[in-house]
Amino acid sequence: MTHLLGAVPSQAERMSEPLRVGIVGCGRIGFLLEDDPLRGHPCTHAGAFSTVPETAIVAACDIDDGRLREFGRRYGIGRLTTSYKQMLRSERLDLLCISSWTSTHVAIGVEACRNGVRGILCEKPIATDIRSGRRLVEECGARGASLIINHERRFAVRYQQVRDLIRNGAIGDLRTIVGNVLCPKWPAASWKASPDLAGGGPLIHDGTHLIDMMRFLAGDIEWVSADACFDERAGGVETGAVAMLKFRDGGMGFLEAGGDRRYFNFELDIQGSGGRIRIGNGILEYELSGTSRRYTGFEDLLPAELPPEPPGEPNGYVGAVRELVDCVRTGRASISSGRDGLAALDVINAIYLSASRRGARVTLPLTSPAAGFRQLARLRAREAMAPESDPKRSAEHRGSSE
Ligand SMILES: NC(=O)c1ccc[n+]([C@@H]2O[C@H](COP(=O)([O-])OP(=O)(O)OC[C@H]3O[C@@H](n4cnc5c(N)ncnc54)[C@H](O)[C@@H]3O)[C@@H](O)[C@H]2O)c1
Repeated sequence: MTHLLGAVPSQAERMSEPLRVGIVGCGRIGFLLEDDPLRGHPCTHAGAFSTVPETAIVAACDIDDGRLREFGRRYGIGRLTTSYKQMLRSERLDLLCISSWTSTHVAIGVEACRNGVRGILCEKPIATDIRSGRRLVEECGARGASLIINHERRFAVRYQQVRDLIRNGAIGDLRTIVGNVLCPKWPAASWKASPDLAGGGPLIHDGTHLIDMMRFLAGDIEWVSADACFDERAGGVETGAVAMLKFRDGGMGFLEAGGDRRYFNFELDIQGSGGRIRIGNGILEYELSGTSRRYTGFEDLLPAELPPEPPGEPNGYVGAVRELVDCVRTGRASISSGRDGLAALDVINAIYLSASRRGARVTLPLTSPAAGFRQLARLRAREAMAPESDPKRSAEHRGSSE
């Protein structure tokens, strides 16, 4: 790839010295969540980069000066700035971690490519809209920079093992995946409740993990049919979304994201013709069909022993950093590429579009990159002005899919 700032060091030089890392976004996922004693650690990007010897954090950026200084103090970093452009121009970075608000990912990533960064670990979702997400993927492709989207479960060996079990037919033919990521309503003041900063509500913020993992386990999605709900006290984004979806290779999916709960939950219930796996946050169960102990001549699902966890990285954040280093050094594509990030965003926008058409089936890939949360917001605005019984409005929404 083109290294805009000086000569490209040789492979040997590169292998012996740590790759220089800059972090943009010194917030919760940047480093603050590391303060949570209940989580498995590391659970942030600064924590993960600090544990991988092939990388060294050399600079950081945040528009919040207080957070920036606290980050510098904790990680012993003196190169701190509130301008990512300045950081990228002056630091000769090999790797960039983008952990700022979703609406900023693309501009920062594109600027990084133009300043010779060789690998980008970008937080999910890749962007607030498909058009700008594509711009980042194209810029990385044109400059030869590796782009990884942090759907971190892909990097954890347990999820990889479950994918392999499904592929190898351990639970028979895949029939359904029922998944949820449930959370409380967000306060209207949070950046996550702003359509401009977040691109939508829990569906895009948390549902992106669920949809990405469904794709990881079962492949591409052919169509979706969906609905969403809102609450005036929760900013301009949806409080919950539900969707039915069809996998291209067979099997159906059902998902719920958000849902105004008093708890957080993430789980996937994967059911095949001969067995079932449940996996999620704190959840791991394996059942296979066998002779029923309750009904003569029937088979039931019986508890089975999952094979031991294979060797490899159990921590998704460390796994993401190792993946980035390997992709940069070998030039291979990531198992969580920019295109995977775009595909998840496409499904999310198809769900928003379907919800804006009262559950009409929407096929993928979307042909209009403008599709998404904005259509749903426009429908809500029209509904606020027209009563439910207005026949003209009902006819308007009887449209077909995209
Ligand atoms: N993978 C995961 O499990 C996970 C978990 C949480 C958040 N995230 C993602 O990480 C990103 C950040 O989320 P968060 O919860 O850490 O938010 P946060 O608000 O705690 O942190 C984001 C930080 O980015 C800074 N920032 C915003 N714009 C900036 C800019 N132009 N330049 C420099 N700094 C800027 C903010 O000041 C803030 O400190 C989001 O995209 C979110 O979707 C991912």
